[in-house]
Amino acid sequence: MLQKGLLLRAVIMGCPGSGKGTISSRINKHFDILTLSSGDLLRFNAVQQTPIGLKATKYMEEGQLVPDDLITDLVLESIKTHGEGRHWLLDGFPRTRKQAETLNKASPINVAINLIVPHEVIISRIAGRWTHMPSGRIYNTEFNPPKIAGRDDITGEPLSQRVDDQPENIRRRLDIYLSTMQPVVDFYREAGVLREFKGKESNKIWPEVFRSMATFIEPKMPLP
Ligand code: AP5
Ligand code: MG
Repeated sequence: MLQKGLLLRAVIMGCPGSGKGTISSRINKHFDILTLSSGDLLRFNAVQQTPIGLKATKYMEEGQLVPDDLITDLVLESIKTHGEGRHWLLDGFPRTRKQAETLNKASPINVAINLIVPHEVIISRIAGRWTHMPSGRIYNTEFNPPKIAGRDDITGEPLSQRVDDQPENIRRRLDIYLSTMQPVVDFYREAGVLREFKGKESNKIWPEVFRSMATFIEPKMPLP
């Protein structure tokens, strides 16, 4: 049953490489919703060498979480600027219980999507990931290759691999994820807003996520 008048306040969680960015961009295509990725915001600030970007770079390159205050200010500011009166979905935020509590005070979340993907598939997925850094568009040499190898489909600009995608950094990011995310997942379970999706393939998870989203917002485009 569609909940008329409700503004969706959603987050998408899942370990590195679980498909948060991939699923978010499909949600963005099919629903009238603002999607914000904390990682994309940080990478944009790093490229622009803003004070936040300069502080965050070292943590990101090592696969560590950036300090709570720094990322929280950045995300809340972005929501304020772009999200007023719109449905929105956050990818990659919150990552700690403190971030979840601060977000909830600013704006209570009504859907928390959790993608559960076995770790054995993660490393090979990330190894094949290529990103168009200015837009955050994601490709994968196996799963969704660009039309021309090494080039973005829309702009034709070169694609690159993320510095934090080296194998030793991926392992560190997975370890950090496991040690920090359970309290966040529990936070949303206790709030009664958690929706979990399990599987190896985004193509199988996607229709389930779509149907779940469609209980809150009218899709602007149906599933193919
Ligand atoms: P962030 O950018 O959020 O990275 P992440 O959580 O590590 O997640 P990824 O972006 O690596 O994976 P994804 O789940 O989006 O997967 P994707 O769709 O790309 O954060 C980066 C860093 O920023 C952090 O390490 C930290 O330093 C900092 N940071 C960010 N937020 C923070 C916060 N809140 N607090 C503190 N620090 C923060 O998919 C992966 C690949 O797999 C792609 O190539 C995709 O095409 C492919 N793929 C997807 N589905 C499939 C499939 N079914 N089969 C095969 N390939 C697939
Ligand atoms: Mg991502």
